Amino acid sequence: MSFAEVQQEVFLVSCQNCHQSQGVFTFENYETVSASLALINRRVFVFGDMPPRGLAEEPKALLKAWMDQGGPP
Ligand code: HEC
Repeated sequence: MSFAEVQQEVFLVSCQNCHQSQGVFTFENYETVSASLALINRRVFVFGDMPPRGLAEEPKALLKAWMDQGGPP
């Protein structure tokens, strides 16, 4: 699993528009996302408050699998 895949299937669909419009960090490149992995893990999987309306099972499982691999490029 690659960043490009997770970016297409999860970040660009479920996170990017809102973050861009709210001026929060964006998901446009690997470096930014990579630097935010711990935060993403906390908000999506520990607190479960990102995205605010929740993430569907399929993208959530995909994101989890990628994060479990350490978030490779
Ligand atoms: C409806 C708008 C919206 C969506 C959709 C959304 N976010 Fe957010 N996100 C925010 C806002 C606003 C903040 C800043 C306020 C806060 O931290 O709660 C934020 C903050 C965060 C932070 C903390 C950033 C920091 O520097 O502390 C993370 C991590 C995050 N979002 C991840 C995600 C991920 C991953 C997704 C998609 C799966 C996502 N968000 C989808 C609005 C959104």
